[in-house]
Amino acid sequence: MQDTRKLYVKSFGCQMNVYDAQRMADTLAKEGYVETQDPADADLVILNTCHIREKAAEKVYSELGRLRKAKQETGSDTMIAVAGCVAQAEGAEIMKRAPVVDLVVGPQSYHRLPEMLARARDGKRVVDTEFPTEDKFDHLPAPSLAATKKRGPTAFVTVQEGCDKFCTFCVVPYTRGAEVSRPVAKIVGEARALVAQGVREITLIGQNVNAFHGEGPDGRTWGLGRLLEELAGIDRLERLRYTTSHPRDMDDGLIAAHRDLPQLMPYLHLPVQSGSDRVLAAMNRKHGRDLYFGIIDKLRAVRPDIALSSDFIVGFPGETDAEFEETLDLAERVGFASAYSFKYSSRPGTPAAEHDHQVPEDVKSERLARLHKVLEASKTAFDRSLKGRRFDILLEKPGRLPGQLIGRSPYLQSVVVTAPHLHIGDFVTVDITDVGPNSLAGRIVEDVEDQGRMSDRPLAAMEA
Ligand code: SAH
Ligand code: SF4
Ligand code: F3S
Repeated sequence: MQDTRKLYVKSFGCQMNVYDAQRMADTLAKEGYVETQDPADADLVILNTCHIREKAAEKVYSELGRLRKAKQETGSDTMIAVAGCVAQAEGAEIMKRAPVVDLVVGPQSYHRLPEMLARARDGKRVVDTEFPTEDKFDHLPAPSLAATKKRGPTAFVTVQEGCDKFCTFCVVPYTRGAEVSRPVAKIVGEARALVAQGVREITLIGQNVNAFHGEGPDGRTWGLGRLLEELAGIDRLERLRYTTSHPRDMDDGLIAAHRDLPQLMPYLHLPVQSGSDRVLAAMNRKHGRDLYFGIIDKLRAVRPDIALSSDFIVGFPGETDAEFEETLDLAERVGFASAYSFKYSSRPGTPAAEHDHQVPEDVKSERLARLHKVLEASKTAFDRSLKGRRFDILLEKPGRLPGQLIGRSPYLQSVVVTAPHLHIGDFVTVDITDVGPNSLAGRIVEDVEDQGRMSDRPLAAMEA
């Protein structure tokens, strides 16, 4: 019989890394590894890294320093692996700078982990950052029922990976490679299996998720709108989301999906980065501010309750004060329900890093603070507008107090309810009674049966 070994995975970065961490854990479960929350207890530690900004990338070296110290102090023989986008970008350098690392594995090679670990156990240090021709998804096992139950009623499913857009600031096309879409049948199969294990909400993920163009069962190429329509036909799959989208790929089929599919949540993360046409062009975003406003108008016309979130970069090389003001103006005009904003970080190998007019750090900080203020104000206004509203929440985890559960609103906010009779994975209709900085409070509408729960509704319009 195989010994039980313990695995600790620490993920940084985007949802794709969260999904990948689960697939690595599922792969290693077959090798006898069980997950632990304590690195000191682990036989194998995997750092699943992010290269998007300098600070994110540098974290791996401080983590490795801590692990080296812990290993020295305890004399343990824990194996250390580095995965994710820093592994892809700096595999050889990690090996040089950090002798504590036993293996480096790039995002397209996770299915090879068992074999790599076997070699590392023989005392060899192993690096695999190839972009192999085989489909790793065919070799990554599905989660066990126990694993899915532990992860809760929401799940990610990767539908495409990589990016061909080459925004001039971004490392993703280099770390994740060219855009590849999975075939529809495989995505639907994975979704059905998760739903059979109790999952109620699926977020389709991809670095450029709405560039999805997978092979359909009819032999044609399907876009994301058509894929969502298909998934909406899965019984007991109550909620669908997708992230991260690019404005250029918001086609009419996808906008129609927002009109036709009640399962598709009225919340969209649509990064815009800047409100200035000149900066957008310099970023190679392939669209201007008017296209962005146009998409939002179309979305609001078909789904008036839709809320938006976004990403912004301030201090892109050459960005002037007046151009930054245009970003503030765009943010004010749209009124985002939530947003992330970042100071531009120069990334090795990207075209913007070579630009002569880098914006000084203090200017970036000042712009970030100003943008932050605008975004915070619109977030607060949006949250407050929900007071008195009624909607379904999906209960995801226990709350702090006995009898409390925490669910998610259609807009991804945490909603705290007192519901000792309900369970994680249940949907419940609530009235929003209070709005706090980090969560909403909800009162359960008792006669849930009469509230038109999603599972009672006819499925999607397309079934007609
Ligand atoms: N594919 C997504 C974004 C992926 S990266 C898109 O096209 O929008 C997530 C976010 O990180 C980006 O939206 C951007 O706001 C930010 N980001 C990427 N590279 C960055 C850099 N060099 N400096 C600062 N922020 C960056
Ligand atoms: Fe990066 Fe642009 Fe691709 Fe998004 S679309 S992953 S920002 S290159
Ligand atoms: Fe980071 Fe790679 Fe995701 S760079 S944001 S982990 S695709």
